[in-house]
Amino acid sequence: MKSIQISSLAEYKELYQKSVDDPQGFWEEVASHFTWRQKWSHVLKSDFITPDVRWFEGGKFNITENCLDRHIEKNGDTPAILWEGNNPETPSVVLTYKQLLSEVNKCANALKSLGIKKGDRICFYMPMIPQVAVAILACARIGAIHSVVFAGFSANALADRIKDSECKLVICSDYNRRGNKNIPVKEVVDEAIAMGCDSVEKVLVYNATGQSVNWNNDKDIWWENIVPQQNDVCEPEIMDAEDVLFILYTSGSTGKPKGVVHTCGGYMVYTCYTFLNVFQYKPGDVYWCTADVGWITGHSYIIYGPLLSGATSLMFEGVPTYPDSGRFWQVCEKHKVNQFYTAPTAIRALMASGYDEPDKYDLSSLKVIGSVGEPINEEAWNWYYEKIGHKNCPIVDTWWQTETGGILISPLPGITDMKPCFASYPLPGVQPCLVDTNGVELEGNNVEGLLCMKFPWPSILRTTYGDHERCRTTYFSTFNNKYFTGDGARRDEDGRYRIIGRVDDVINVSGHRIGTAEVEDAINQHEHVIESAVVGFPHNIKGQGIYAYVITNGAIGEENAFRKQVLDVVTKEIGPIAKPDAIQIVTQLPKTRSGKIMRRILRKIAEGEFDNFGDTSTLLNPECVEDLKNGALTLN
Ligand code: WTA
Repeated sequence: MKSIQISSLAEYKELYQKSVDDPQGFWEEVASHFTWRQKWSHVLKSDFITPDVRWFEGGKFNITENCLDRHIEKNGDTPAILWEGNNPETPSVVLTYKQLLSEVNKCANALKSLGIKKGDRICFYMPMIPQVAVAILACARIGAIHSVVFAGFSANALADRIKDSECKLVICSDYNRRGNKNIPVKEVVDEAIAMGCDSVEKVLVYNATGQSVNWNNDKDIWWENIVPQQNDVCEPEIMDAEDVLFILYTSGSTGKPKGVVHTCGGYMVYTCYTFLNVFQYKPGDVYWCTADVGWITGHSYIIYGPLLSGATSLMFEGVPTYPDSGRFWQVCEKHKVNQFYTAPTAIRALMASGYDEPDKYDLSSLKVIGSVGEPINEEAWNWYYEKIGHKNCPIVDTWWQTETGGILISPLPGITDMKPCFASYPLPGVQPCLVDTNGVELEGNNVEGLLCMKFPWPSILRTTYGDHERCRTTYFSTFNNKYFTGDGARRDEDGRYRIIGRVDDVINVSGHRIGTAEVEDAINQHEHVIESAVVGFPHNIKGQGIYAYVITNGAIGEENAFRKQVLDVVTKEIGPIAKPDAIQIVTQLPKTRSGKIMRRILRKIAEGEFDNFGDTSTLLNPECVEDLKNGALTLN
């Protein structure tokens, strides 16, 4: 695969230009490096209005053949997955490409034996164990569509996602070990299914910890009873490039999370291309992405991108602070990790809990270190650069989204320059632009605006599951003929992009996307809550925290007990990641005459900024602003 790796600045510039002048020719060349059973009939058909984007349509193949089979002859004994357990004493597990193929085939045959067919949806609610990768690839092998749900979401949130995509099967484990917690995974699945998930026929349970769980003989099946005994050969289902590969739910500014749909061909080409270029992976390297498989980063850069590239992908079960805040660095030292990819929130937390802690470990194997999910502040960037990279590892600050499938803007290590906090330049094939609120494109450099994409790249989302109109209105209707990212950005004097953050009602908490409307809906479930409004505020560790303003019916009793109940409701409705950091009890919310909450004021107060509210002349109840200020909670 070496030939799709860029190796110099001149080459990047040349390829970038080619990708703009002749996108079809550019991507056709990249796609020709993969194994196809039949060539595509056209490289791209695109319309940003409907929207309707198709890459490599008519091309027939199976992504797992590209992830696994084609590496076997030369690299069958190369480790594909290197697993490190939550507990440092647990022996590491290695699955070579040969072994992984055999495990995937057995699991694929087991899924077939359960009646799973091409196009069926399968929900995952799993910890970070090798079996999650095995089962995801097994779905792809037989053309079933995986919908992985982060195992920190509540039963309610899981049930919503299962129902929306009508999953036939749920794959889970008995329990999940994370740090010193022992989380009852199967119990949450049982609870979710009891909430009317009628589409679920079976639950496949991997016995990860050996603890006892409730059992329903009609539905539940132990993985151990049906997977290991299967034949380890399974002919891959031949898919069209535009067949659906997976659904992944993500939060937006309104309503319930939506199922972002990615298809097989473009996603394969793009994740592999970006993995090889952004991390400059070389054969024999050990690459580690610390994300959870429940997020897009886990899909694209723990599983698909690395395996498509024949890489060794390290998978970690635990948390950065267990047994202590040196764990990441201990794992880097133990496995001589070469590329390390994590989130700013983890960097900030580790920096805060032991500034010099990394000095205890030998991190000399590292070549490239990466960051994803939220803006990285300069202090964290410098610590990462000095303490982890020892000033000789380029930092790749990668900007992208669930909807983009892969990294769109990032430095190329050792090739393009780096500037702290800048995601910098678009990768070949990516055509970003900044627009003002009227959609007028801002020309030239040194400008700030709303970040859009003018042209499709192969792994752009195709639709939102079951609701194409929502896809159109969310991403393609704000600005004419452009994909709108929801982020604000600045382009500096040399054309580098700096991502400022979301401009919509999405909060990015520790790199997790949470919609304000979702949290409000959850808080409103409390019997004594009449109305609530949720905004983000800058948080030292998490990037953004959640600040909730709540109007009650006056019957709440002791305030702190009430606040605790609100946190419990949010945990039940969504999961602990959405718990507000602050709950201010108020009597009114600032509203315009048309009844819209003026969130700008609420954001300012949550930030601790009590002036400069801008134009408040349209407020129906300006008198409430003083009360809001007086009751504001001090944070950070
Ligand atoms: C934010 C994660 C600044 C951004 C892959 C985006 C970033 C949202 C960066 C998508 C970055 C992601 N710098 N902000 N390098 N990377 N973001 O869908 O606001 O979980 O819109 O995808 O994270 O989050 P998602």
